Amino acid sequence: MRLAAVIALTLVCAACSGGSSEADPEPTTVPPGPVATTTAASAPARRPLMGTAVRADALAADTAYAAFAGETFDVLTPENEMKWESTEPEPGTFDFTRGDAIAEFAAAHGQTVHGHTLAWYSQNPAWLTEGAFTRDELVAILERHVSALVEHFAGAVSVWDVVNEPIGDDAVLRPTIWSEAIGPEYIEIALRAARAADPDAALYLNEYGVETPGPKADAFDALVRDLVARDVPLDGVGLQMHVTDTFDGSGLDARLAVFADLGLDVAITEMDVRLELPADAAALDRQAAVYGRALDACVAAPNCMSFATWGWTDRYSWIPSFLPGWGAALPWDENLDPKPAATVLESALR
Ligand code: XIL
Repeated sequence: MRLAAVIALTLVCAACSGGSSEADPEPTTVPPGPVATTTAASAPARRPLMGTAVRADALAADTAYAAFAGETFDVLTPENEMKWESTEPEPGTFDFTRGDAIAEFAAAHGQTVHGHTLAWYSQNPAWLTEGAFTRDELVAILERHVSALVEHFAGAVSVWDVVNEPIGDDAVLRPTIWSEAIGPEYIEIALRAARAADPDAALYLNEYGVETPGPKADAFDALVRDLVARDVPLDGVGLQMHVTDTFDGSGLDARLAVFADLGLDVAITEMDVRLELPADAAALDRQAAVYGRALDACVAAPNCMSFATWGWTDRYSWIPSFLPGWGAALPWDENLDPKPAATVLESALR
């Protein structure tokens, strides 16, 4: 059983037995937190691991930000620190400094790390994107990178987003350096290399825009189904959930069930709910409802292992610089004060 599953199940059992985790065969670094939630009475008494993306520079420089991140969440995702441009700036030369900083912070706070990400089309170094490599060379480069990272962070990272955003918005395999030079097999190659490097890490595909039914979700499901059918090592899928306050969450339970039927875990990996600026009180309430719906769906789905937001405070959200005119996307505001959305998440947090 993968570590993340052990931890989540420990929390489930803690709900039944009043907090004892004696049956847990492996020492977990995450103490059982509060398990009751405000969801419907019929929902099972469990909570997913609660997570957030963090920035190493902010953890080092912003004491209040670091203290809250350390005490509130179960899992941390490095927002940029484990991406290719950060970790392999020169071919075969690895820099784990900033990833290690987050892993060490997490360990010091009894948290685990959700590794992000090993094969993606974005935030790659120029030597890689402009290298004009042959197929064989790129396969070797991909395997070397995946092996190096997964081996280095073994024990610290319990879940990896092995492949990020494999499907394009046109609902076909996204054309990337990987898919164009290697073909669709790049996904399988990355997953197999990750499994070989750390058999205990859970391996995920992570995607946006597939939390609602539609052509992109269909394409994603077909990809996942094919990998499962061929016994390619895959443990779960991440639904990013970068959405707005008009997001319709009514189909979410069905989406999570698709993966349960395939025997896979699922995680909400990068949730934020962006608002058109300036955001008024009604927008903040709609935002809280969207966060609440997603958390309820995750709590109610036995295969939903973790629920993470893409940062926790608007002070460091990526949204305003990427989508001008939008912002206020996270549950805590720029002053680190809770918004209505934070209240909705509170009962599930540590
Ligand atoms: C974003 C980061 O938040 C930014 O700081 C960075 O400049 C660009 O990437 N989907 C993902 C994340 O999987 O890696 C992205 O993170 C947001 C969208």
